[in-house]
Amino acid sequence: MMTTTQVKENLNLFRCPLCGGKMRMVAERSIVCVKNHCFDLAKRGYVNLHTNPVKTEYDKEMLKSRSIIIRSGLYEPLTDKLAGLILDHACGPHTEVTRILDAGCGEGSHLARVIQSMKGRSDRRVSGVGIDISKEGIRIASKEYPGITWCVADLARVPFKDDSFDVVLNILSPANYTEFKRLLAGDGILIKVVPGSEYLIELREFLYRSTGKEKYSNERVIAHFEENFNTAGTWDIMYSLPVDKHNLEHLIRMTPLSWGAAEKNITEALKKGIDSITVDLTVILGKETRGRGS
Ligand SMILES: C[S@@+](CC[C@H](N)C(=O)[O-])C[C@H]1O[C@@H](n2cnc3c(N)ncnc32)[C@H](O)[C@@H]1O
Repeated sequence: MMTTTQVKENLNLFRCPLCGGKMRMVAERSIVCVKNHCFDLAKRGYVNLHTNPVKTEYDKEMLKSRSIIIRSGLYEPLTDKLAGLILDHACGPHTEVTRILDAGCGEGSHLARVIQSMKGRSDRRVSGVGIDISKEGIRIASKEYPGITWCVADLARVPFKDDSFDVVLNILSPANYTEFKRLLAGDGILIKVVPGSEYLIELREFLYRSTGKEKYSNERVIAHFEENFNTAGTWDIMYSLPVDKHNLEHLIRMTPLSWGAAEKNITEALKKGIDSITVDLTVILGKETRGRGS
């Protein structure tokens, strides 16, 4: 059965990714713009608005592993923190519904967990939208979390109208600040999550031994954020959790760190095992103070 409810409920947010025109639903099967650019709804209710399909390394295997690791609770302190920040900074007394866009949502678990955590603490209404360029990611998201609107879309050409969101989340994904500014309502907030230097360090040390890539710095990414948004707060979140053999395999598969690693290093990591893994993330909260398009 086709599930159109979520897209239908949020239809007023959409704009055509090709011409920017208004969109309407046709026969509960497609959304069509004023110039007749037509995008079909998938059986699971997501819509593919990416007009220039690309082959991405974020494939089904990787995103399934990501889903297993996120569901194991590895990122729970992060999603609880994000939920708290949204409740504190984007849920004023005049906000009837808090509209959240997760740009680069992957397989959707972070957004689903943030919303769940918000609902556990407040009775505010929340509307969630997730976009990702990976069709596989959006397929998993729409199967697992049908209460959220999911779209295959490029974050450099987001198919939503100006001022549509109170919060843009951007977790471990590329950013497009011009688009984020356009999409945020006047007092909206951008929350970006970037890895810290100790993020998955035990894995990094195994996979990049003697390559000069054992260390990572997020300075450049944070500087780019600050060129575009006024930073209202920065939080470092760091903790370690145990890893069993089964999860280690998924941990290796879920991270782009494994893309550049030698196969023998991956095999060795799996053979020797890792007792615990460090999660080190920086959360930056930005508010727009400069003109659009800067
Ligand atoms: C490391 S993953 C993070 C996914 C998710 N936020 C998470 O933390 O599990 C990076 C994500 O960015 C997405 N991505 C990369 N370029 C993109 C683009 N131009 N538009 C939309 N998504 C993009 C990838 O498909 C991938 O799902």
